[in-house]
Amino acid sequence: MLNAEAFNFDGDYGEIYEDLAHRVIPGYDTLFPATLALLLERAGASARVLIVGCGTGQEFRSFAPSAPGWSFTAVDPSAEMIRLSQRVAQKVGAGGRTSFYHGYVHELPASERYDAATVINVMHFLRDDGAKEQLMASVSERMPKGGTVALFDLHGDRSAPHHAFFYEAWKRYMSLRGYGDAAKARLLRRLAAGIAWVPEERIMQICHDAGLRLIHRYWAGLLYGGWLLERR
Ligand SMILES: C[S@@+](CC[C@H](N)C(=O)[O-])C[C@H]1O[C@@H](n2cnc3c(N)ncnc32)[C@H](O)[C@@H]1O
Repeated sequence: MLNAEAFNFDGDYGEIYEDLAHRVIPGYDTLFPATLALLLERAGASARVLIVGCGTGQEFRSFAPSAPGWSFTAVDPSAEMIRLSQRVAQKVGAGGRTSFYHGYVHELPASERYDAATVINVMHFLRDDGAKEQLMASVSERMPKGGTVALFDLHGDRSAPHHAFFYEAWKRYMSLRGYGDAAKARLLRRLAAGIAWVPEERIMQICHDAGLRLIHRYWAGLLYGGWLLERR
């Protein structure tokens, strides 16, 4: 992570994340059902699904009730986020079909195989010094040929002419969505310290090097993008 303190999921950022996500991430409310629909098409009704960075449990809330035949492995390096996700999984009836792992994907047994994986709002925190590559490679290695990955990330080329203008528009969007000035100022400081920006082309290169092929870009909202990929 660029500056682990900037986005401390074991601390106050974890506590405020849920409200923030709904207000600040364009399409957050519809992203998960859209991802679910795509993964059901690709992986079917009885898939093994790896949730990378389960955070406050949004994947469980969105996926578990409509995919009762799915089993989950949920990974997060934050103990507090694992605890929160466990509570959500129990509440939506997925507790008995979920394994939680407090740590990182590369620490999961190499023999584990998943039909589908989600990496939503995670990779943008990791430096482009091998950490992003290790994350995607460790996911890809645990999938069979044809396995599906939904990747969603904040990204951008900060030297591109449109980037500053889009960033300003995103700040305006936060206010339009009712995100208060003080909370917004704190978030902007965190974003400046804790996001490892890379352009979409670099994300595609990382995925390609990890053995993943782009099926289609399925999401775009201001500086966020979502890509559906498959294991080659
Ligand atoms: C912004 S939350 C996203 C939660 C959920 N996926 C969502 O979109 O609502 C990011 C989560 O990724 C976790 N995380 C950070 N680095 C990670 C890594 N290298 N591998 C897996 N999870 C990571 C954080 O602890 C946090 O819970």
